[in-house]
Amino acid sequence: MRVLVTGGAGYVGSHTVLRLLGAGHDVVVVDDFSRGAPAALDRVEVLAGRPVPVHAFDTADIDALERLFDAEGFDAVVHLAGIKSPGGGGARPLDSYETNLGTTFTLLRCMAWYGVDRLVVSSSSAVYGDGRDLPHREDAPLTPVGPLGRSHAMNEQILRDVVADAGPALRVGVVRHFSAAGAHPSGTLGPDRTGAAAGLLTAIAEAAAGLRERLEVHGDDHPTPDGTAMRDYVHVDDLAAGHVAALAALGDADQQLSTWNLGSGRPTSVLELVRAFEEATGRPVPYRVAGSRAGDVPVSYADPARAEAELGWRATRGVEEICLDLWRWHQRHPTGYPAALAPSTPWRGGVGHRLRLVSTVPAVSSW
Ligand SMILES: NC(=O)c1ccc[n+]([C@@H]2O[C@H](COP(=O)([O-])OP(=O)(O)OC[C@H]3O[C@@H](n4cnc5c(N)ncnc54)[C@H](O)[C@@H]3O)[C@@H](O)[C@H]2O)c1
Repeated sequence: MRVLVTGGAGYVGSHTVLRLLGAGHDVVVVDDFSRGAPAALDRVEVLAGRPVPVHAFDTADIDALERLFDAEGFDAVVHLAGIKSPGGGGARPLDSYETNLGTTFTLLRCMAWYGVDRLVVSSSSAVYGDGRDLPHREDAPLTPVGPLGRSHAMNEQILRDVVADAGPALRVGVVRHFSAAGAHPSGTLGPDRTGAAAGLLTAIAEAAAGLRERLEVHGDDHPTPDGTAMRDYVHVDDLAAGHVAALAALGDADQQLSTWNLGSGRPTSVLELVRAFEEATGRPVPYRVAGSRAGDVPVSYADPARAEAELGWRATRGVEEICLDLWRWHQRHPTGYPAALAPSTPWRGGVGHRLRLVSTVPAVSSW
């Protein structure tokens, strides 16, 4: 299939592009590089041995997106452009709503205009919020606690409404990510951030490497065995494989919209993750317990049974492997990817130079 991947330069996106190429798909990326790194896609090309056309623009820019749809003739879209907030769900409400909803609107419009009828969309375990029925099942009521989780829950509602109104051809797969972690086993793809913005495991690696004095553990008074918050860590490469499996399953699914948890099904506390890292790498991790953060739910983990039954997917790697792969990446890239390429690099120049301009009158909507 010819697949558009939005947010393909990001953490999950770069691994997903590599997996899609490995499965034989042709991939085109749109990324505005607000967070993603051009170098990530250079490395994907090297690992895959194939070129990846990249277009640098905001997915919410409907004119640029329409030109791309007109030029490329996509069969499917994997939508990963979005805002994430590893430090809790409360940050940046306007950014969360504007990006996470605006990009969905433009994609759905262009898909309708150009008859593209397969869509895999990233959602988040944050839609379950502080839901107490654990593990989280896809059919549980959604109780997101912050703007980020609510933006994903709204996205899901929009998709349900659009699907209900569309003809039977439209197929949507919603994949609810649990906590993506680790790095590509090659050590060449990984999280492109430092500090809390890159996630707990990067903060642990920074403390182990002496790049920060110590890890701040947010709260040891949660109702968990050791008092620290528990999350479901899923290797980013397993997560990427889940998107490929979801795309493959769309054609066979009984329903027009399917929702799958992509998690390991195993909760790990912050202190358990620290210990797993120390054991896997042999490096001590200095830490201290600080106050809990508002909006942090105590425990979140997936029931991954539906993904296993319907996609044949499950997380294959545990926290030890996640820690080892992240440490390998971190030792080579303590501050993330190298700086961006110069803007003059031909294929990073944006959509205009490589596409013919098209009429602004859209094709007749098929749904
Ligand atoms: N990583 C996780 O643990 C996790 C958990 C739950 C949900 N998610 C969701 O999965 C998606 C991908 O997460 P990630 O970890 O890869 O994040 P990321 O920040 O690494 O990647 C997102 C990518 O999207 C791009 N982008 C953002 N806004 C854009 C726009 N308007 N137009 C074009 N490109 C845009 C960024 O430049 C970046 O390359 C996000 O929607 C996030 O909310 C991730």
